[in-house]
Amino acid sequence: MKETAAIAALAIAAGVAAQQSAYGQCGGVNWTGPTTCVSGYTCVYSNDYYSQCVPGAAATTAKTTTTKATSTKTSSTKTTKTTKTSKTSTTKTSSTKAPTSTTLSTKTTTKATTTTPGGGSGGSGCLVTAYASISSAVKSCTLITLSNISAPPSSSIDLQKLQPSATVVFAGLTTFGVTANNDFDPIVISGSNILITGADGHTIDGGGPNYWDGQGSNGGGDKPDHFIVVKKTSNARITNLNIKNWPVHCFSMTGNQGLTVSGLNLDNSDGDAANSKSGGKAAAHNSDGFDISSSDYVTLENINVHNQDDCVAVTSGTHITVTGMYCYGGHGLSIGSIGGKSNNTVDTVTFENSQIINSENGCRIKTNSGTTGTVKNIIYKSITLSGISDYGIDVQQDYLNGGPTGDPTNGVTISNVQFIDVTGTVKSSAYNYYILCGSGSCSGIAFSGTSITGGKTSCNYGSCP
Ligand SMILES: *[C@@H]1O[C@H](CO)[C@@H](O)[C@H](O)[C@H]1NC(C)=O
Ligand SMILES: *[C@@H]1O[C@H](CO)[C@@H](O)[C@H](O)[C@H]1NC(C)=O
Ligand SMILES: *[C@@H]1O[C@H](CO)[C@@H](O)[C@H](O)[C@H]1NC(C)=O
Repeated sequence: MKETAAIAALAIAAGVAAQQSAYGQCGGVNWTGPTTCVSGYTCVYSNDYYSQCVPGAAATTAKTTTTKATSTKTSSTKTTKTTKTSKTSTTKTSSTKAPTSTTLSTKTTTKATTTTPGGGSGGSGCLVTAYASISSAVKSCTLITLSNISAPPSSSIDLQKLQPSATVVFAGLTTFGVTANNDFDPIVISGSNILITGADGHTIDGGGPNYWDGQGSNGGGDKPDHFIVVKKTSNARITNLNIKNWPVHCFSMTGNQGLTVSGLNLDNSDGDAANSKSGGKAAAHNSDGFDISSSDYVTLENINVHNQDDCVAVTSGTHITVTGMYCYGGHGLSIGSIGGKSNNTVDTVTFENSQIINSENGCRIKTNSGTTGTVKNIIYKSITLSGISDYGIDVQQDYLNGGPTGDPTNGVTISNVQFIDVTGTVKSSAYNYYILCGSGSCSGIAFSGTSITGGKTSCNYGSCP
């Protein structure tokens, strides 16, 4: 009681309204909203028009910055100003959740006295309002706000030369000129310890309706095959983005080490309906949410995906954790197809605490016919399924040219796969369980607490539940 009263009194004395949530705005010219952040986040000056709550407690920057607490009553328009902040918290890879140990801090004015730990030499926050200004901001700024950017045709938002520990904030509406080119990547991200995030109310719009023809990357008109390419990052974070209407695949993630992706909303629901070019089929096709390859220590967490193909597909990589997914309308949580690619090893992948709704499949592992590779140490845990039209749990080794042959081969081995507490229902025409292994190429596929009902079962390995 005493503490509550003291905190309330402090808040009143400091003129503080509610605290701003993670990645929200906390300052700027004429800003009348909250100017302090929830525990674990600190208000960082980006430019005169925008300050943002980014991870890190004031205490963690105190060591390298000069912090002056304002003890007097201040007006609510005063912003917290940091011309450069140390990014001591950006190397964590396991979670973006706020630490709980921080104390309620008074409103502070933080002045820069430090160099960028990652060695960058650039200035502080840069507000970018025109596409043409992006490249210079990427070179010279460590906190970049991309505000209402409209990229011209054939012009990527190129974030490959970010300084170490740079932050990029998408704000307002981001759009792209129509570019009928399969190899054009609208957004490309690379760097170390970087944070890519979004301001409240922002949207990144891929302009899908300009391209969708029901054929995705299988044919029809040319269209950007990968909307957002994340490559060769180390200890990067991508958080709180709202993305809609990507043309074909959304995220292509390759060659990354220690990548954390959280709090994203991927909405391709507009692509469910047919259009004049799609011959009665869903207009969007091959619209995978996340394709992960050749990457280690990747975490995807707390993400909504409404699409028309794999919610997540891992085709190679190790130590990948996918948790807190809400997958709607697509093809479920997938490994594969494996074999015949440049990298054919999948080791230590966990999918957990997720829901898969009105999708073709729930949990799926598929390998390619007549190829070699390794899939091992896979866990699907605490996953609920509903409205599944093809397979609840599916392991098949007979893929060829993107479809099943019915004739499995054994060049790709699958071992130590656990389905734990995978529950739910499939449609009556669907399979609860479907396992089709090659001769001797599956081992250690185990089920516990798993119960899927409503459909058929066909397993040529062990005994399905
Ligand atoms: C801030 O408010 C003043 C007074 O209403 C106005 O003149 C000014 O244009 C505003 N500035 C911005 C950036 O909106
Ligand atoms: C983007 O543009 C809209 C409409 O003009 C405007 O209301 C909004 O403030 C802008 N947002 C940002 C972050 O610049
Ligand atoms: C395959 O991916 C792993 C990361 O999971 C990487 O270490 C390895 O170098 C890649 N192999 C090839 C042949 O690209």
